[in-house]
Amino acid sequence: MKIDPKQPIGVFDSGIGGLTVVRALMERLPFENIVYFGDTARVPYGVKSVETIAHYTTQIAEFLLEKQVKVLIIACNTMAAVAAQVVRDLSPVPVLDVIEAGAIAAVEATRTRQIGVIGTPTTVNSNAYARAIQVMASDARIYSQACPLFVPLVEEGWLDHEVTRLTAQEYLKPVLAEHIDTLVLGCTHYPLLKPLLQNVMGKDVKLVDSAEAMAARTAALLAEQGLTNTDPTLPRYEFYVTDVPVKFQTIGERFLGRSLNHVHVVKW
Ligand code: DGL
Repeated sequence: MKIDPKQPIGVFDSGIGGLTVVRALMERLPFENIVYFGDTARVPYGVKSVETIAHYTTQIAEFLLEKQVKVLIIACNTMAAVAAQVVRDLSPVPVLDVIEAGAIAAVEATRTRQIGVIGTPTTVNSNAYARAIQVMASDARIYSQACPLFVPLVEEGWLDHEVTRLTAQEYLKPVLAEHIDTLVLGCTHYPLLKPLLQNVMGKDVKLVDSAEAMAARTAALLAEQGLTNTDPTLPRYEFYVTDVPVKFQTIGERFLGRSLNHVHVVKW
């Protein structure tokens, strides 16, 4: 199949959290056209079963493939943790996932090979980060912690709030006790908590932002495969969601870091 570099990058997530990945892509690859899909009607995925997540993920990947994307990016850590293979099996175009990207960045960042990973309960229970890290660094020790309250706290906009700080201190206590030198932010929402988490973990712990790691991986893949769009005309950004919930615009723009236009609602 001949792929044209002008075809868009397809990015998807359980909701609007994946806009952190879109934002990183826009910064890193400013000429790329992007189509985003966020399953806002069925979010959150982080507490759902593997079967349900795999089913929803298939539907979304097929939708984006119909939009003629040149690469599929699984921006949602939860989907990447339990359904990345499902997407790879059905996709004729390259598939990148945020866990692989975060794992590579963590192995590059760590000196002591003591790595912490935080994410949703489904991501943490899947052990996907630990497996991905250990393929590259078999001597690495991984300490994982589910932080389910972070998603609603970020959506509430409590990015620098005392309640969030106390919650983080509580969740991260066992991880801190392991003297890790690197912490993977294994959820779309956590990059927004970076300053607070850095403060709780201390300045010596490196935070791996999986959104930035994903953008770096995408840039490398496009360059390797000769798929980088070098056409400097204004890129097209399209956003598809399955619902427009209360405060959608405000929350979306917080994640994206700019105004959110061209939003289409898909009714399934
Ligand atoms: N996008 C999800 C993730 O990165 C967080 C939100 C959810 O639970 O669906 O794990």
